[in-house]
Amino acid sequence: MIVRDTLDRPLANLRLSVTDRCNLRCAYCMPEPEYVWLPQPDLLSFEEIAKLVDVFASLGVDRVRLTGGEPLLRRDLDRLVALLAAKPALRDIALTTNGVLLAEQAAPLARAGLKRFTISLDTLRADVFRELTRRDDLARVIAGIDAAAATGLPDLKLDCVVLRGTNDGELADLVAFARERRAEIRFIEYMDVGGATRWSMDRVVSRAEMLARIGRAFGPAEPLPSDGSAPAERWRLADDTTFGIIASTTAPFCASCDRARLTADGHWLTCLYAPAGLDLRTPLRAGASADELARLLRARWTARTDRGAEERLAAARRSALAQPDELRADPHLEMHTRGG
Ligand code: GTP
Ligand code: 5AD
Ligand code: SF4
Repeated sequence: MIVRDTLDRPLANLRLSVTDRCNLRCAYCMPEPEYVWLPQPDLLSFEEIAKLVDVFASLGVDRVRLTGGEPLLRRDLDRLVALLAAKPALRDIALTTNGVLLAEQAAPLARAGLKRFTISLDTLRADVFRELTRRDDLARVIAGIDAAAATGLPDLKLDCVVLRGTNDGELADLVAFARERRAEIRFIEYMDVGGATRWSMDRVVSRAEMLARIGRAFGPAEPLPSDGSAPAERWRLADDTTFGIIASTTAPFCASCDRARLTADGHWLTCLYAPAGLDLRTPLRAGASADELARLLRARWTARTDRGAEERLAAARRSALAQPDELRADPHLEMHTRGG
């Protein structure tokens, strides 16, 4: 049974955050010195996640993505992948990771049934990596990318958030790096999401500017047809190399957004910018049946009006979405809790 929201968008794509913790401190996501973490007993077990996924699947979800924080910090993640891979309703199980722990985990995850890897790669320069993430792990990330490529899984993607003055001079190098590994790189506009407390429009590099920079290095890129609900627009260079741009800040894709997010403690968010989610952990732990949970989800999705990124675009004066004290008071507002 497929449910549709008030703008006729189906519920198809579920992002599962398995932990709010992270082993990097990317400037666009976790720039603050201290964080308030979700209480450990609130985290859903793998069995609880699997049970909720069945309910979501009964309403049309057929693609899931594991995210964090950094999902590889969750112990035995391959066990969750195996539980999900056993569900015929899911045609896609992907993972978004920063790659630091991937060299050890790529092969077991692929064996467990993961279908694709998306790895964040913002820079190829060790000094920039250190400045951007406050850790010294670029070599481990590159080893992780190589391990993911070595699994032979198709559709390897690299995600790069472009920040003016930090990595905007590296676009051509990153395209070349991805090409060597037969991966597709996607350049992401810096978004004013919760957690991005240092966001300002002058640090955003727009899609138009990214295309101009890549065009100067490789010649003009030709647009490829889009696949409907995906946020990335894809382009092809003269030598057939493809790359993507996710222009969520200057050209949001809300009109076709079929995605929702489940936080590690079971809050269900119908928009990246939603002020709050629906607590599914409480009814789940109180013994609600699959039918009762499905009713809750259907009621919420059929009433959905979210167009968070478009509303941000329409705002007259744009600055960071949330202040550090608001984020500390409610860590559910953080991007690293909602899943990148
Ligand atoms: P596939 O197309 O299935 O490979 O995944 P994806 O395109 O959804 O990519 P991914 O999960 O790697 O997301 C890439 C980036 O798109 C994120 O890191 C965000 O910057 C942005 N993004 C993802 N989900 C949303 C969303 O719900 N709303 C908005 N506005 N941006 C999003
Ligand atoms: N802007 C854009 N993307 C972000 N992410 C986290 N914070 C932001 C932000 N402010 C996304 C990036 C990263 C993923 C884990 O989360 O794509 O690669
Ligand atoms: Fe960086 Fe992702 Fe960790 Fe945020 S959750 S600090 S984007 S690695």
